[in-house]
Amino acid sequence: MTTRAIIAGCGGYLPERVVTNADLGRECGIETSDSWIVERTGIRQRHIAAVGETASSMGAAAAHQAMERAGIGGGEIDLVIVATATPDSAFPSTAARIQAAIGATRGAAFDIAAACTGFVYALGVADAMIRAGSARCALVIGTETYSRIVDWTDRGTCVLFGDGAGAVVLTAGEGRGDSGDRGILSTHLHADGRHADILHIEGGAGSTGGPGLLRMAGKEVFRHAVAKLAAVVDEALAANGLGHADVRWLIPHQANLRIIEAMGKKLGLPAERVVVTVDRHANTSAASIPLALADAVGRGLITKGDLIVFEAIGGGLTWGAALARF
Ligand code: COA
Repeated sequence: MTTRAIIAGCGGYLPERVVTNADLGRECGIETSDSWIVERTGIRQRHIAAVGETASSMGAAAAHQAMERAGIGGGEIDLVIVATATPDSAFPSTAARIQAAIGATRGAAFDIAAACTGFVYALGVADAMIRAGSARCALVIGTETYSRIVDWTDRGTCVLFGDGAGAVVLTAGEGRGDSGDRGILSTHLHADGRHADILHIEGGAGSTGGPGLLRMAGKEVFRHAVAKLAAVVDEALAANGLGHADVRWLIPHQANLRIIEAMGKKLGLPAERVVVTVDRHANTSAASIPLALADAVGRGLITKGDLIVFEAIGGGLTWGAALARF
């Protein structure tokens, strides 16, 4: 019998303040336009964290919702993994802070740094630990406050990002359901550090000095994204003996609508089977996939037995995909 990590519940949190593309020009003094941003990215608005809101406070809110939906109490959680590039502090980890906030005291709690691929990486590690028997009930969280690390004087990047958090509860299960294998089927993680410079944080809490702000060569990232995401999704399907026609939902990292639509087309999926939140959330980095999952589940779109593809690319470069049957 196969032990699998079953998705038992998911949740999300978005800060109250919404900043539209028009607000960026009007209130923030950025020389941009709604049409420039929408045409190139599909982004129409983003949420921005309030003073005092942090990666851990937002992550804990998302975790509480996921736990409530899963019917799981803090005492049952024995693993907390947080994917974030914007931790409250270098240590204690954001995961340890969230562990305390949800009333969990058992097992490990640690952060993962894989930028926008962070949630897929965290899912991969949690899945491996559950399969190995070293955890039975894991919280996997992506939470970000990019509004604090973008350079608000660089219009080429600051308009692209937003704040938010998403969480998933994974429980060890038998992995058999009415419609075949359930849970995380496999995860496929990649990195190529030779491309570190095209998307990185200059200094900050790191040891290299500098202002701690995000830098990106947008065209280069775009070029890598399309090729690498298509390849890793095919790798994930092939590893499970599945094809494009088996995919029910694509839940991609939400960076750019053009990349998302290209991936939907590649899989032969109609637009309504591709979950899109980038228009409302912008790019929330490691939080974008669990937020999109919570959004889709909250709208009653995803039903038991549906095959979901998650895919993401981000700074590192890192990229990866996961297949899950809901
Ligand atoms: N508003 C108006 N004009 C802007 C602008 C903004 N917010 N940002 C840049 N511009 C201008 C530039 O100054 C440039 O003007 P110029 O031609 O007079 O020099 C022009 O628009 C084109 O800039 P460029 O950077 O070449 O645009 P682009 O077509 O490559 O689009 C991105 C930029 C970022 C939207 C695009 O490269 C992209 O989506 N890349 C992928 C990024 C991504 O997904 N990152 C996250 C991965 S996790």
